[in-house]
Amino acid sequence: MARLDVTEVFANIRLPGHLHTQESLRFASNFQFHSSDVLLVTYPKSGTTWMQEILTLIYSNGDLKPVKTLPNWARVPWLEHIYFQEQLQHIGHPRLFTTHLPQPVLAPALKKAKPKVIYATRNPKDVVVSYYHFQRMANFFPDPTSFEDFLHEFLAGTVHFGSWFEHVQGWLRCPEELGVFCITYEELHQDLKSCVEQLSAFLDHPVQPDQIDCIQEHCSFAVMKENDMVNGRLIPPGIMDFQKSQFMRKGTVGDWRNHFSPKQSMLFNEKYQQEMGDHSWPFRWDMA
Ligand code: A3P
Repeated sequence: MARLDVTEVFANIRLPGHLHTQESLRFASNFQFHSSDVLLVTYPKSGTTWMQEILTLIYSNGDLKPVKTLPNWARVPWLEHIYFQEQLQHIGHPRLFTTHLPQPVLAPALKKAKPKVIYATRNPKDVVVSYYHFQRMANFFPDPTSFEDFLHEFLAGTVHFGSWFEHVQGWLRCPEELGVFCITYEELHQDLKSCVEQLSAFLDHPVQPDQIDCIQEHCSFAVMKENDMVNGRLIPPGIMDFQKSQFMRKGTVGDWRNHFSPKQSMLFNEKYQQEMGDHSWPFRWDMA
């Protein structure tokens, strides 16, 4: 099913029709979780693939076989994707899932079963840069005309997957409501070992020191960039154009400084302050 030019609208959000149908989205919103499930929630380009790799290795106790033999979407599938029902038949235990859906769509199902929910987030200035390059290469998104235009759409919340601000606020304004554990891309960068320890404690799944070493090594950007199970190389060139950008692009903190003009940065900060300024969030980013 290519549907590269199709856009689905669900819960007021536009989503690529290549990966979503109304039926797949309804299936996700009515999904019956188990309390033993683990749900990774992200806004796109926030470190989803990185977290999928870390979670896989925590639960494989550092065994590299799954990350070397199965693509990320088969190990930690997206609830809302059209392939999900098929993938569900082959998934291990505990079940690890991913979603980009907003909190109000999933909250009723999550409240019933109380699975473990992890929200991974990233400096939105780096998200918008990463998303811009991803939209240039992924043919299931409209080609952005320029970074300037894309930035305006991102701030207006009209990009695919909706407003970053609403997504983060939905999941993190009252994290205790769904027992959400928050982690940031920047924390993963700064101290992956400590993040793995915190995740292991939250998940109640102990990891041994040698397993942490293995996770640190395998989840480095350099190693993941060469792993065809996560670097996008399994995706046909008609769907992702690697001449335009890479899926494992730079993997750095603060790349926004190479893209934003001073005026764009100021506009972004004003919007950020307007949307986020009234609350104490579990993250702090270098926005200046
Ligand atoms: P950049 O485009 O800034 O390089 P997602 O998986 O949510 O789509 O996020 C993709 C972003 O995470 C990309 O950012 C990608 O390079 C980065 N990424 C993936 N694995 C990483 C790793 N091991 N270390 C650092 N960054 C990583």
